[in-house]
Amino acid sequence: MDAISVIRAKRDRHPLTEDQIDWIIDAYTAGTVADEQMSALAMAIFLNGMSRAEIARWTAAMIGSGERMDFSSLPRPTADKHSTGGVGDKITLPLAPLVAACGAAVPQLSGRGLGHTGGTLDKLEAIPGWQAALSNARMMDVLREVGSVICAAGDGLAPADKRLYALRDVTGTVEALPLIASSIMSKKIAEGTDSLVLDVKAGSGAFMKTAEDARELATTMVELGADHGVRTVALLTDMSTPLGRTAGNALEVRESVEVLAGGGPSDVVELTLALAREMLAGAGLPDADPARALADGRAMDVWRRMITAQGGDPDAPLPTAREQHVLTAPSSGVLTRLDAYAVGLCAWRLGAGRARKEDPVQPGAGVELHAKPGDLVVEGAPLLTLHTDTPNALGYAEAALEGAYEVGTADDFTATPLLLGR
Ligand code: URA
Repeated sequence: MDAISVIRAKRDRHPLTEDQIDWIIDAYTAGTVADEQMSALAMAIFLNGMSRAEIARWTAAMIGSGERMDFSSLPRPTADKHSTGGVGDKITLPLAPLVAACGAAVPQLSGRGLGHTGGTLDKLEAIPGWQAALSNARMMDVLREVGSVICAAGDGLAPADKRLYALRDVTGTVEALPLIASSIMSKKIAEGTDSLVLDVKAGSGAFMKTAEDARELATTMVELGADHGVRTVALLTDMSTPLGRTAGNALEVRESVEVLAGGGPSDVVELTLALAREMLAGAGLPDADPARALADGRAMDVWRRMITAQGGDPDAPLPTAREQHVLTAPSSGVLTRLDAYAVGLCAWRLGAGRARKEDPVQPGAGVELHAKPGDLVVEGAPLLTLHTDTPNALGYAEAALEGAYEVGTADDFTATPLLLGR
């Protein structure tokens, strides 16, 4: 077998055989297929797609490229959640301790942000002392003692995906359905959770721009989960406007703590509870009441213990950016649109995200929203606050917001439901 024949096959729209898929994933993991060859193949897949059978084999090969974790020694059923990524998506932070407070074990292996979408680990690293890297043994201890853990996936888990994801990010091949589905599901299946809830986002701030594409991605991933014995459910959710009122690392931690304290923005609370109910049902705990665990402080207790177990200080003040710049409403009326992608790009340019994997992020940088679509705004009153440590980035960041919001009348506004389907 050789890489060129595999690339040619996909370039010429032939389905890849099982042998071709197994060989290329194996050889790429071993380093005998070069990055330029894999990027040509990724582009051919992006352009010509893959059948469900090819995606299933590709996913199995990526799982087989590394180790599999095993949580069967835990006394509680495991439940995990994965979001396909969005702007202001801090849901994992309140969700993992909430579901643990209701009786499931939540091993949440999370990632860092790349491009305009934020990453859970970057957000949590805004908490002084908090550590993302845990050994497998320490991860099991935290799960046993606390019930939830949010940490980085070890190098041994789906290493083919690790290399391929970094390559896709710099070759314009991230937004390919077969590659997204296999990337996410290979990691989740290798992680060994009993059940999985997917938050598949649709809209300008998501990889899938339309609900139709998001539904196809969701169906593909649910089928992959079922193939491997993982009870998998997907919710389709709106990502045309940011979730909550903040996009940025420390800003989103602060908002998550508000939710854990029983407050916070209603959309973040709604989605946290919807995902919690699905996770608890998947874990065989359908009678648990997550709204109660949020209101009575049990979720907050688990949060505090989880942060402490990973070296963080839940009482430490969160970092703030050196500079704040307020943008005001251009006229009075109803905010009819606030675009998720533009806000994500703005936060990224302010320093909340990174351009390359190895870049640092500014913990205090980001965007604070003083109004959400449907809210009344008053001309000259604050609409958005931009936070950054690098004031010379402000002009470039503000340019991302050009045309991103509109103020009109109530008649111009159509509310989009947050939950688009299941
Ligand atoms: N998240 C992943 O882990 N992989 C993708 O391809 C896209 C989002």
